Amino acid sequence: MIPVVTIDGPSGSGKGTISKALAIHLGWNYLDSGLIYRCFAYLTMIGTIDIPKAIKEIEHNFDLNKEEILFNGENITSAIRGTEVTMLSSELSQKPEVRSQLIEIQKTFREHPGLVAEGRDMSSKLFPDSLVKIYLTADLEERVNRRANQLRNDGQKVNISELKSEIEERDLRDTQREHSPLVKTDDSILIDNTGKEVKETLEFIEKLVNEKY
Ligand code: DC
Repeated sequence: MIPVVTIDGPSGSGKGTISKALAIHLGWNYLDSGLIYRCFAYLTMIGTIDIPKAIKEIEHNFDLNKEEILFNGENITSAIRGTEVTMLSSELSQKPEVRSQLIEIQKTFREHPGLVAEGRDMSSKLFPDSLVKIYLTADLEERVNRRANQLRNDGQKVNISELKSEIEERDLRDTQREHSPLVKTDDSILIDNTGKEVKETLEFIEKLVNEKY
């Protein structure tokens, strides 16, 4: 079986930074499942109504492992990370018919020598046989600040109180939805990385992985 490490958590929990660094250290593949939902939302927004076609477009035109996201030669990174796509991806991800199709794409990332997968339902739904399951979180204030920095780095203007409401709304929807909500599974290790350096959390997870594999 190809080994998987799953890292789930809410927006701004730091799971992106930690998962990417972990995948690089281990030399494993990396799945940013949120990016797949965002790509789907973007394609829907620009009028690609046909879901199977939209999925094909995601598979063939997006390089999910690049910092810059290109579509038809256009750099759509800001749009993908922006408010409209962010909220739409959270809304669309409530629909079981959307989830079931995107799940198939996500499963194809499980390739040798291993996979680090981040999202909301990686431990509960996508890879329940994963040997190391992490639930990463941080205080709301810190998550808002991290997300603000991420957006500023993408060259976007940030209104902190709006961003806070956006994150609260998304937290609520992502945890309360009927299908595959964000949950901490019983076999996941809870890490609250409020006030912690990335290095500290990363080393802790790497130790857990080394004990298992
Ligand atoms: O991780 P993110 O902020 O890029 O995710 C965007 C949205 O996609 C998130 O609000 C809910 C949805 N999502 C999901 O439903 N399941 C996942 N595994 C990952 C993301």
